Amino acid sequence: MLSNKKILIAVTGSIAAYKIATVVRLLIKEGAEVKVIMTDAATHFITPLTLSTLSRNKVFYELYTDESWTNHVMLGRWADIMIVAPLSCNSLAKIAAGICDNLVSAVYLSATCPVAVAPAMDEDMWLHPSTRANLLTLQSYGNYILQVNHGELASGLVGPGRMAEPEEMLTWLHNFFDQKDTMDGKKVLITAGPTHEALDPVRYISNASSGKMGIALAREIQKRGGQVTLIIGPVSEIIPAGFDVIQVTSAEEMYTAAIAHFETVDWAIMSAAVADYTPIATEENKIKKSGEEITLKLKKTKDILAKLGELKKTNQVLVGFALETENETDNALEKLKRKNADFIILNSMRDAGAGFGKETNKISIFSKDGDRHNFDTKSKTAVAADIINTIINHKR
Ligand code: CTP
Repeated sequence: MLSNKKILIAVTGSIAAYKIATVVRLLIKEGAEVKVIMTDAATHFITPLTLSTLSRNKVFYELYTDESWTNHVMLGRWADIMIVAPLSCNSLAKIAAGICDNLVSAVYLSATCPVAVAPAMDEDMWLHPSTRANLLTLQSYGNYILQVNHGELASGLVGPGRMAEPEEMLTWLHNFFDQKDTMDGKKVLITAGPTHEALDPVRYISNASSGKMGIALAREIQKRGGQVTLIIGPVSEIIPAGFDVIQVTSAEEMYTAAIAHFETVDWAIMSAAVADYTPIATEENKIKKSGEEITLKLKKTKDILAKLGELKKTNQVLVGFALETENETDNALEKLKRKNADFIILNSMRDAGAGFGKETNKISIFSKDGDRHNFDTKSKTAVAADIINTIINHKR
């Protein structure tokens, strides 16, 4: 139930606005307090009268009139969550760019509560690179994006771009509030991404890790009230706001940063793909091409997870990852033991939905007490939620 939850809905101009009447009705039925604001364009698709009747609150759609000014700051402070739904292409571009020329964009920019958006647009607009870029920008601000559905669109075309259904929005809100405080006050250290081991001033040894899984974990923990320190190697992903981010390049730098931060955290999750070997020496000048073959001399890097396993106190939870290509279970269990972790998360390169750079992952979680949890292929955000829920629910 959503009793007494304060929900601010911002409606923008899209045909899907008609569905907001159902959303408001469902929210009121569950005991939520609902306030609605609209853009001018939205009032052409559904009337303020309908939404004020259903929400039992005055609906605002003007930043100011000749006689009054709408206190946009207080609306964003009043809410437990703001949902922009439907989010049109135009409003998406405005809020991503920080343009503040109507009530909805002004409230968005001044909102101190979490913000979720439910985009709605035609397939071609949905697939346009500017839409992709604007959504990534919103994600980088820490906003939540409710996935669009594939189906019949206002244009008559069939494709992606349909706004999430009212029932899906309700489910999302239930999850949001159920999980909101489950990490309250917990401090979590996360390593993510690859490391670069320099051979000379212009070359390095690395791997294809994108950092997506670690960033998804950081976002999920932050959403639940946890405090994240993210130690991340060189990645091209946008790192959302709100974490304490330490950017490193080499395995040695990642090791030093992790050791320095481990003592004060409750959990440490090592999702980085740390290089196992690094050049014995980095050449001062570019290595010149010479013979037909070249031999590189490498030495082992320090194993961060294993070191934290040695330093771990009884109240700390240590989690490692194992990306395997063969003998997956045996290798994962061996790592769990050798590195003294509490949990190891196995992903296999043999699963189509798992691996570096993918938007999805397929994992199994092994605990040191012998439990095993298997999961289906899911988005990395959903995988992050599964990992956190498994750790929280594990009886120790
Ligand atoms: N790890 C680490 N420091 C390293 C190497 C690995 O912290 N120098 C961590 C990874 O972040 C991951 C786990 O150890 O959580 C497993 O990494 P992996 O490279 O699969 O394990 P290795 O011990 O290197 O074993 P192998 O290369 O034989 O698979």
